[in-house]
Order: sequence, then structure tokens, then C-alpha cells
Amino acid sequence: MEPIVVNHPLVQTRLTVMRDETTDTEAFRRAMYDVSSFLAYEATRSLPVASCRVRTPLEETDGVVLSAPSPAVVSILRAGNGLLEGMLAAIPSASVGFLGMARNEETHQPEAYYAKLPDRMSERHVFLVDPMLATGGSACDALQHLLALEPLSVTFVCLVAAPEGVARLAKAYPNVGLVTAAIDRPLNENAYIVPGLGDAGDRLYGT
Ligand code: PRP
Ligand code: URA
Repeated sequence: MEPIVVNHPLVQTRLTVMRDETTDTEAFRRAMYDVSSFLAYEATRSLPVASCRVRTPLEETDGVVLSAPSPAVVSILRAGNGLLEGMLAAIPSASVGFLGMARNEETHQPEAYYAKLPDRMSERHVFLVDPMLATGGSACDALQHLLALEPLSVTFVCLVAAPEGVARLAKAYPNVGLVTAAIDRPLNENAYIVPGLGDAGDRLYGT
């Protein structure tokens, strides 16, 4: 699937705040919250709805509700949690899962340390969230775990992607959607996204 790059002014201005090295933790967190609900709006465009009837103050009319069971938002810990609240503001009924994944600083390989997912994953549309798609290692490991449960669809939602991560995801998982606010230049020698925004987890949590 072709990546969707959300080139909206409200997204790009928040991303600029997050890229700025002088932005403090509080403002970084706030900007990530805002941008995540905008990305959610884009990522959830094709969610199925079911018809219902609703009574306005004037009369009864047709309406829609999200089809059951609710979608699942799965956060790749830690930094994925920065996108979680904004996603939930957009999809309040969503079930939530967590996959703990830490990138080894020398090998740049992800190491899984935790997994807790909602039930009935095979009946849900899933949004996997992590602000950074660098080598794609963490995303691919998380996707391997998720796709074993045969969800209806998976969309990976991130803030900044590197071309290497985008290509790896597309090759390994061509049916997984990708929604991002930016695709930057290739990775540097430390496998960091350039210009990127630095270490997303550290900037979110002040570590
Ligand atoms: C960061 C980021 C992704 C991963 C991306 O997490 O949030 O999970 O690196 O890199 P990759 O595409 O090369 O795998 P990190 O492992 O630093 O953990 P953290 O969220 O706890 O800071
Ligand atoms: N993880 C981050 O937080 N930032 C990068 O640029 C790469 C991996």
C-alpha cells in the first residue's frame, strides 16, 4: 500500500514544534497529543460503520455507529504511548494493547519485553502506533506478533519515517497501511532519522 503522508498545516506546524531542539517535554507531549488525533482522523477514514436510527429534537433519522467490535489501538512502548491518548480521543471506544519493544543502542535491533493485547483480535481493525519508523525493525517485529492473530486490517501510524523503514515495511507487509506526518532523509550512522526529532521516547518522558 502507498504510504499516506499527512501534509496538513495543523499537522506540519505541530511536527515543526516537535523537531525543534528547544521544545521542552511539556510542549513536546502536547504537540504529539494534538498531532496524533489528526493522524487518527486520516488513518480511520475507511473504518466500517453500521446503520442506526437516532432521534433529533425534531424527528427520527438515519445515523451510523462504528461496527463492533471496536477497533484496537496498539502502542509500541514507550514512545507509542505519546500517540495513544490522541488516538483514543478520536476513537473513544477503541480497545488498547501494548507491545514493549526497546531498540538495542549498539545493534539497533529491537528487543521485545512485554505484550498485552485485547481479545477478539481477528475481528478488529488495528492501528499500531509508534512515532518513529527508523530501520523498521521494531515495527516489523510488532507486526509479526499482531498479524499472527489475523486482524481484519492493520495500519501503522507514525510521525516521522525514514525511507529505509518505509521500504522494509512495504516489502515485508504489503497489505499494512502506513500513515505518517513525514518521510525524512535516510538514516545516519547511528540509525537515527535525519533531520527527525531525536529520541522520541526520551523527549516525551524527559529521560
Ligand atoms: C524508538 C521508536 C521506535 C524505534 C524505531 O524506540 O519509538 O520504537 O525506536 O526504530 P527502528 O525502526 O529502527 O526499530 P526505542 O527502541 O528507542 O524505545 P523507547 O520508545 O522506549 O524510547
Ligand atoms: N528512535 C527514535 O526515537 N528516533 C530515531 O530517529 C530513531 C529511532
